[in-house]
Order: sequence, then structure tokens, then C-alpha cells
Amino acid sequence: MAVETLRWRERRLELLDQRLLPERIEYLECRRALDVAQAIRDMVVRGAPAIGCAAAFGIALEALRGETLDAAFDLLAESRPTAVNLFWALERMRKALDARGAGALEAEALDILREDLAINRAMGQHGAALIKDGARIMTHCNAGALATAGHGTALGVIRSARDQGKRVSVIANETRPYLQGARLTAWEMVREKIPVTLITDNMAGHLMSRREVDLVIVGADRVAANGDVANKIGTFTLAVLAQRHGLPFYVAAPLSTFDMSIADGSEIPIEERGADEVTGYRGMNWAPQGVLVRNPAFDVTPHDLITALVCEKGVLRDPDREGIARLAR
Ligand code: MRU
Repeated sequence: MAVETLRWRERRLELLDQRLLPERIEYLECRRALDVAQAIRDMVVRGAPAIGCAAAFGIALEALRGETLDAAFDLLAESRPTAVNLFWALERMRKALDARGAGALEAEALDILREDLAINRAMGQHGAALIKDGARIMTHCNAGALATAGHGTALGVIRSARDQGKRVSVIANETRPYLQGARLTAWEMVREKIPVTLITDNMAGHLMSRREVDLVIVGADRVAANGDVANKIGTFTLAVLAQRHGLPFYVAAPLSTFDMSIADGSEIPIEERGADEVTGYRGMNWAPQGVLVRNPAFDVTPHDLITALVCEKGVLRDPDREGIARLAR
């Protein structure tokens, strides 16, 4: 059965609590914008399109409570900095508010959710054309149903290829430090019986050198106007490795992830998360007290390392400023 990452029940937002996966399936109920902002910050819901959808419902919840909305917009905008879908969704809710009033916001949030699912299916169709029968596909982080309203971006392409009868298999990088690959991507693939092999991130180059990988496909948190892509930390390393081994490196992202106000990737704000994600996990600690830690959650892959970008309008090969401008028009 398809996983429901976000659901709208009796005018409440229910979020599948991704912190608990793969051990438990539990939903967290949000009644106001503050709950949603906290859930985004705490990684109950994560992945660029899913964060955007959740934020839209945060505004809708606050409108249903009859509250003034400026504080809710500010609160949600501060929840996470890198995925531009958050700001895109808030902007869209702001426009709906200005044009049609607070009464229109519930319907607008539901439209954003439905459209995201349809966009992922369209992207899946376009992207599946890039996937050959028998392809061994490496992916990083989780760009699946859990990161979107459903179907997924990178995993959506894989699902669509499978639906077309292609025998695909997935190599999921575990994605240190937060383990979205091990916990979420592997879970989604196992549930659907798509063959999946889990590796630690530092095994990627070895597998490529032994010709055990045919292509890499990932999602994105923000695409700059020149085609540079911010995605989960470690994506840039994979793109360099893919180039070295002559492997195609694909990015699947909806147009809501494109930020035409940013000239190139150097301007993309990169979230720096807490040291505890690097020094341990779920209460276990493996680093000495006093050690200095860095924990950038995303990195930027320059556009010239990207073979093609897949979006709902089609496939853009060798993405650059002109190609991105054509797509975004
Ligand atoms: O920190 P996360 O889990 O929110 O990061 C998610 C990613 O980096 C995804 O690859 C990206 O948002 C694309 S999801 C379709």
C-alpha cells in the first residue's frame, strides 16, 4: 500500500513520524502552525516537497483557528533554511490569502498536496525513459514517497521504471549522519519488493570502480538559476565519483524546487545541524567530549557534473542557465 506521508483528517494535519522509521509507523497530529514548524525542525517530516506541503497546512490550520497569519508565516519560514519548497509554498499561500482571503487556505493547501503527487508521477514518466531494463541504480538520502506527497522524485523515477516492467535494482547509500537512506529509502523499497542493497556512503566509489552501478539519481532541495543543485550532504562527492567512472548522474526535482532568484549554488543557504547527529545516534555516543564537530546537512553539486535534470516538464540534458530559464518560464 502507498505510504501516506501527510494526511488531512478532520481539519487536522497528521504527519507520519519519520524519526521512528523503520521500527514504528505512528502519526503525529498538528493543530496549529507552531506544531508544524516544530515537526519540520525536528525531522518528523522532511524532504523538500513534503516540507512545502506541511508548511502550507500549517498556514491553513492557523487560518481555521481564526488567528492572524503573519506570525505563522514567520514561524514556518524559520523552520529549515535550505529546501526552497518551504518558501515557495508559503509564497503561494500568501498569494491565495491576498487574492481570496483566509477561507481559501484549506483548499489551497489541499491543492498543493494533490499537485505534488501529480507532478511526481509526471516526473516519473519522463525520468523512466532514462532507465534501461536491468539498471542498477544508486541513490542517496530519501527522495521517495516519504519526502513528497507521494511517489517521490528520484524514487518516483525508479518506481515508474518498475511500473513499465523494467527490472531495476537500487543501491541505497545509508546517508550519514541522519541515515535517511538506511532508514527511509531502504524501508520504502523493501515494502514494495524493489530489490535494494544498503551500503555505507564510503562504499560508493568501490562499487562504481567494480562496475556494479549503472547510474546515480538523487533529488534536490534547491536548484539555482545556473543549474547548480543543493541536496543532502554527500551528493557532491557522488557526482564527482560518477564523473570519474563515466556514469550518468541524474537529478529529479519539481519546478517548486527551482530558485531563479539565486544565480548559482554558492548563494544557497546550507543548514548546519547539531553536533549530536555526528557524535552519536539515538542516545549512543562514539566521540570524545570536547571534539569539534561540523554538520552541514547539504552540499552543492555544480551543474557541469549533472548529466540531466528531470522535472515535470521533461528532461533537461546538460543543465545550464539557458536551459533552466527555458524550463522555469
Ligand atoms: O534533511 P532532509 O532529509 O530533509 O533532506 C532531504 C534531501 O536532501 C532530499 O534528497 C531532497 O529534499 C529531495 S526530496 C524529494
